[in-house]
Amino acid sequence: MKKTIMLLVFLYSVTASAQKMPGLAPTPPMGWNSWNTFATNINEKLVMEIADDMVSSGMRDAGYTYIVLDDGWMAMQRDSVTGNLVPDPVKFPNGIKKVVDYVHAKGLKFGLYNCAGTKTCAGYPGTRGYEYQDARQYAAWEIDYLKYDWCYTDGINAKEAYTTMSKALTATKRPIIFSLCEWGSNNPWEWAEPVGQLWRISGDIYNCFDCIKDWGTWKSWGVTYIIDMRKNIRQYAGPDHWNDFDMMEVGHGMSVNEDRAHFTMWSMLASPLIAGNDLRHMTKETIAILTDKDVIAINQDKRGVQAYLYQQKDSVDTWIKPLTGNDVAVCFLNRSQKPVLVEFNWQLNPVVDTVSKTNIDFTRRNYTVKDVWKKKTSGTTKSAFRGEVQPHDVILLYLKQE
Ligand code: GLA
Repeated sequence: MKKTIMLLVFLYSVTASAQKMPGLAPTPPMGWNSWNTFATNINEKLVMEIADDMVSSGMRDAGYTYIVLDDGWMAMQRDSVTGNLVPDPVKFPNGIKKVVDYVHAKGLKFGLYNCAGTKTCAGYPGTRGYEYQDARQYAAWEIDYLKYDWCYTDGINAKEAYTTMSKALTATKRPIIFSLCEWGSNNPWEWAEPVGQLWRISGDIYNCFDCIKDWGTWKSWGVTYIIDMRKNIRQYAGPDHWNDFDMMEVGHGMSVNEDRAHFTMWSMLASPLIAGNDLRHMTKETIAILTDKDVIAINQDKRGVQAYLYQQKDSVDTWIKPLTGNDVAVCFLNRSQKPVLVEFNWQLNPVVDTVSKTNIDFTRRNYTVKDVWKKKTSGTTKSAFRGEVQPHDVILLYLKQE
């Protein structure tokens, strides 16, 4: 009898404390989200076309898995009898399950958006007070990912609100990735590892390389601003818990150089790679950037280390990402409008990273150096690297131990 009671107490404490389902994002999640390009102008046809293009463009095979519908998928009111969320009947005349099934049949996964507050940021019904009911609805629709925003949350405690939703998702027993989107306002990196698989670290991205878009009461941020915003939180990222630098703007208005730099930096920073462009109209350059398997491999490296800023010199940032097997990725990011000649002497610049406990002295170990975007080897670490970084562009090097 005593044993049974102890077992029950143990099981109760395990279930009561269970938060996120473990193991859903061993590497940064990859996918597509509707917001950056379409805002609330989304519908069934768009989802199906995006799913088709995710496959035909080669993105699915490159690792992009989740198709996430952001704000605007719902009707303005919950069902008056059941209180359930209702999809917009014009945008989704056949319901959500229909598009989920379509996406699943393509070998992809499906995500939805809602908000911890009383309304979503665009004014649709929020989840506050309906956490378990909404989670059951999502599980019934067989979704695989939930992005959870932070508008209309006056008086709500972020850690508690996100924890409640995380438990509600876990209680459904369906594996659903939980993406926290409270813009870094409440330092989620300090408390969200047991709660979700990724958390936004900034306000919204804007499709320019180094500008700020001022909307009056709030701002959105160009690529370099987001990179610079949180210098000291890389120790909080790792397998199953990622700093989310926001959906990407690759293929959505910046130059090819800027897109390449943006994609490379998101990869170096071990950010989730969630495309935000219109997959139905991509240039070959955009496809080549988004599907580059060597760059994606750096992002998806199983060690899950977020790169550190090693030095800033002559408008060029040097970023270093320790990888599995003691390999290393090194990125030179040119923030200026002019080409800059970079010279980097490996012998004088060891890799020393206390976060990942990496120590590499190139006078004692030799590495081959490969230029990842140019797909060619560039000597070894015995001699200094020299190369010209184009304006708003990168040189990305992969160092492999000989
Ligand atoms: C917030 C989020 C965005 C997007 C919109 C939708 O601004 O940060 O990513 O989800 O809401 O309204």
